[in-house]
Amino acid sequence: MKVKTKIAVFASGSGSNYEALEQACRNGELDAEIVLVMTDKPASFVVERARKTNTRVVALEPKAFPSKQAFEEALIDILREAEVEWIALAGYMRLIGPTLLAAYPSRIVNIHPSLLPSFPGKDAIGQAIAHGVKLTGVTVHLVDEGMDTGPILAQAAVPVVEGDIAKTAEAIHKVEHVLYKETLQKLFTDKLIFGGVQS
Ligand code: GRF
Repeated sequence: MKVKTKIAVFASGSGSNYEALEQACRNGELDAEIVLVMTDKPASFVVERARKTNTRVVALEPKAFPSKQAFEEALIDILREAEVEWIALAGYMRLIGPTLLAAYPSRIVNIHPSLLPSFPGKDAIGQAIAHGVKLTGVTVHLVDEGMDTGPILAQAAVPVVEGDIAKTAEAIHKVEHVLYKETLQKLFTDKLIFGGVQS
């Protein structure tokens, strides 16, 4: 029997994507185990969701460390001790630095609420609406040193609900909750072709 892929989910906010991944692990759609949720915001709602599902919570605030490097080194110690193989960012609002990227090369995945390379960074849904696009969407990509710039693994289009950020966000979230688990499952079982090569 294949041992389940051990993942850590990093989140700074509500955590609905964490919850969707956790459910997918539980019902066997995603052949993985979320060994911990890491948050840089101990008061965020994801902490409550993780506790409810009995997932270990690691709350580490970067401001408690002298540098980003020291913060990421402390994080790496925890991740290695927990035998984490992949990191899934799910609403994690910080750029990953070179220290963590070097420890997990091509092993950090992010989900972003736009069709990248359009609308990277904060408030992607607001940016799309302000631009007047009719179609936006969701991107799952590998993380590199840039802001939402790494190799694209999967995308899905979502129509904009004109002038309505809340309704557009709701539609995007629904798609995210399916696309993230499906993409990770393909990634972990080597069924994903991206950048012209099979993972
Ligand atoms: C999602 O829209 C995700 O694409 C973005 O941040 C949001 C997180 O939502 N990176 P939630 O905290 O998972 O509900």
